[in-house]
Amino acid sequence: MTHKNPQISIILPTYNESQNIVNILKSIHANIPKGIYAETIIVDDNSPDGTGKIVEEYISNFKKIAENTIAIIHRTAKNGLSSAILNGIQNAKGETIVVMDSDFSHPPQVLPKMIEAFKQYQCDLVVASRYITGGKIHGWTTKRKLMSKAATIIAKQGLGVKTKDPMSGFFAFKKNIIKGLNFDALGYKILLEILVKTKGINIKEIPYTFENRQLGSSKLDSSTIIDYFKSVWKLYKNGKTKTINEKRNSVHFLSKAARFFTVGASGFVVNYIISMILTSNLIEMWYLHANIFGIVASISTNFTLNKIWTFEDKDFSRKKTLTQYGKFGLFSSLGALVQLGMVFWLVDSYDIAYPLALISAIGVAAFSNFILNKKLTFKEKLWN
Ligand code: GDD
Ligand code: MN
Repeated sequence: MTHKNPQISIILPTYNESQNIVNILKSIHANIPKGIYAETIIVDDNSPDGTGKIVEEYISNFKKIAENTIAIIHRTAKNGLSSAILNGIQNAKGETIVVMDSDFSHPPQVLPKMIEAFKQYQCDLVVASRYITGGKIHGWTTKRKLMSKAATIIAKQGLGVKTKDPMSGFFAFKKNIIKGLNFDALGYKILLEILVKTKGINIKEIPYTFENRQLGSSKLDSSTIIDYFKSVWKLYKNGKTKTINEKRNSVHFLSKAARFFTVGASGFVVNYIISMILTSNLIEMWYLHANIFGIVASISTNFTLNKIWTFEDKDFSRKKTLTQYGKFGLFSSLGALVQLGMVFWLVDSYDIAYPLALISAIGVAAFSNFILNKKLTFKEKLWN
């Protein structure tokens, strides 16, 4: 049997899991459904507590008793969870890959359900989920629960991920869905990368109860959290450019104009508040100077909001952003001049009431501003 390729590869990253590794291996093998040939790949980062050695010993005994196989990849240093998992995947021979922790947080009893789900739901990716009905977390502090929730919300809102538990470390997938993809392998969030980078795959979530580890300690630290933000930002900028471009065309001229005017209104508020604060008793700046600060501040906030929101431009390279900012400032000043001239012209030569003249002038200035920035600052076609 062993000369055949395994159907399933279970990837088991370890760092200082000497107290868990043997029991988790036993438990995993007890839970692999009969008739399925599985390989388990431990990826150990030279754990100081000797996890790697313990596995080597276990493997030499295991070979004599079991039909499934176990292999270990020894890496030289602690290089992070995602990269360990990727390393395991590269060496996996199975058509289906399962990823799980080695500290019993992911109960091996869920494995049969995950494997069954591929057939039952015709899916390519099965996520064991804490955040769907029936899913739970046992033994986490409120702080850790909140952190996990916050990370989940960021992933869903920021990256448009639909999966309820995109932070899950417990999942299984058909290896072919990641063919040709490149991964950043930062921190812990390999599933999130898979969710963002694959297109059109069928995903099924099944509930499970996450059990906080009884033995050993978590390796998640502040650098993991920083890595998380880095990888979300990277995914946001690169991974999603395609979908963003598709979305872009569907956001029409009018909705962009509406966004542009909304931003303009917010700029008015910024301008007003800054000018008021600077002239207040506290700072007592001369009102014209204060107003210059107000104008510069509102141009800056307007620019930023329009770049990110109105025109959905994710390219923040220094040179491009500065050039855009310059143009935006220029058009804003031009708009102000147009507005001033028009008010004067309407009131003086046509005797139109000041409020009406002002409103029309603001409208014309804002609209021409929108067109100029759309075409020249953010280099978009006029109608899309
Ligand atoms: N090889 C290797 N290298 N393994 C690592 C490394 C590493 O740098 N860091 C962690 N591991 C292993 C641990 O030994 C454990 O088996 C597994 O990866 C998970 O690490 P924990 O440190 O126990 O993670 P956790 O319990 O705090 O976080 C869990 O919940 C998160 C969701 O909120 C994990 O399941 C995460 O994957 C999950 O994202
Ligand atoms: Mn854990």
